[in-house]
Amino acid sequence: MSVIKVENLRKNFPLQVEGNLLTKVKSRLANRQFEAVKDIDFEVKKKDFFGLLGSNGAGKTVTLSCISTLLIPDSGSIQVNDVDIIKNPFYFRENANIVLSDRLVYSKLNVKENLQFYSRLYGLGIQETKSRVNSIIKEFNFGEISSKKIEDLSNGQKQRVAIARALVNEPSILLLDEPTVGIDANFQIELHDLFRELNKTKTLLLTSHYLHEVELLCNKVIVMKKGIIIAKGSPDEIISKTKKKGCIKLEFNKISSAKIKELLPKNAVISGCNATLLESKPEIIAIDLVRSIPKKYLKSIEVKKPSLEQAFIELTGEEKENECGENTNALGGDEVNENA
Ligand SMILES: Nc1ncnc2c1ncn2[C@@H]1O[C@H](COP(=O)(O)OP(=O)(O)OP(=O)(O)O)[C@@H](O)[C@H]1O
Ligand SMILES: [Mg+2]
Repeated sequence: MSVIKVENLRKNFPLQVEGNLLTKVKSRLANRQFEAVKDIDFEVKKKDFFGLLGSNGAGKTVTLSCISTLLIPDSGSIQVNDVDIIKNPFYFRENANIVLSDRLVYSKLNVKENLQFYSRLYGLGIQETKSRVNSIIKEFNFGEISSKKIEDLSNGQKQRVAIARALVNEPSILLLDEPTVGIDANFQIELHDLFRELNKTKTLLLTSHYLHEVELLCNKVIVMKKGIIIAKGSPDEIISKTKKKGCIKLEFNKISSAKIKELLPKNAVISGCNATLLESKPEIIAIDLVRSIPKKYLKSIEVKKPSLEQAFIELTGEEKENECGENTNALGGDEVNENA
């Protein structure tokens, strides 16, 4: 059974008309709609860790906002546990929650007060609020920061409070919109551990521009581009759909370049005692190389599979990479391979 079923979801916004356009042109444009999400379909199963990927403006937040009942779609349906949440928005609000990038916590209240406030908003009684808030504070190890105002916390701490806030109603589904943005690497790892823990009992939906974290955490992914879904599947399935090649890196003991050249296929790029090869099936080629190169010559061999990040860049159309297929560019490309 699917926990979330999205069918033909469409969300338009009125086209913004600014400036001193002629009144005639302005009135013609005023009736035009901007299609932020264009008839998308996807299904999320129980305890999935489901990733929504896409460049800036692809429609990820609009999609999550429709699911979380913050926006009303123009057409299509959204079922949560077989309940039509467009007709019954309270079903979503009782059983699920969302962490948005603008954190939804009050900066002048302290951590504990925020949690108490939201618990009461969700209808918990005074005693229930007390025990729920205490257990969240313990689970999140808030300790002495519980009495600190949100405005006095670091970005990472604020983000943990935002996630804690979304747990006051004990949701079985949690939507996370770029939860690790602006968080340092160590803290990201902490949040990943927290998400994995939450995923033991909850279905999670995540948007992120950090492809490595999506690859690490998510079992299913959709890739969105200009309001449509251009790829669906597990991260491995998405990677395998692309033409990207994996990379084999070899290091040799001190032998001549001529000798290294002799030992490797013609497409090898040799630099001193190092060599790299781009192959579509790098594991198989690497095994052959280990078998064929005498042990005394080979110091190390490493296989790097194509990453979800490389696949994403290929799918969404922006490509700039070094010899080993590693991206050297920031994400957010706009031009697309429309045939992807
Ligand atoms: N309330 C709104 N009114 C008008 N247009 C909107 C509104 N909300 C979103 N949009 C537009 O819809 C498109 C999709 O926006 P959305 O926020 O879903 O993108 P996103 O995929 O989440 O991007 P990002 O990675 O930058 O967060 C964008 O072009 C955006 O400008
Ligand atoms: Mg967004």
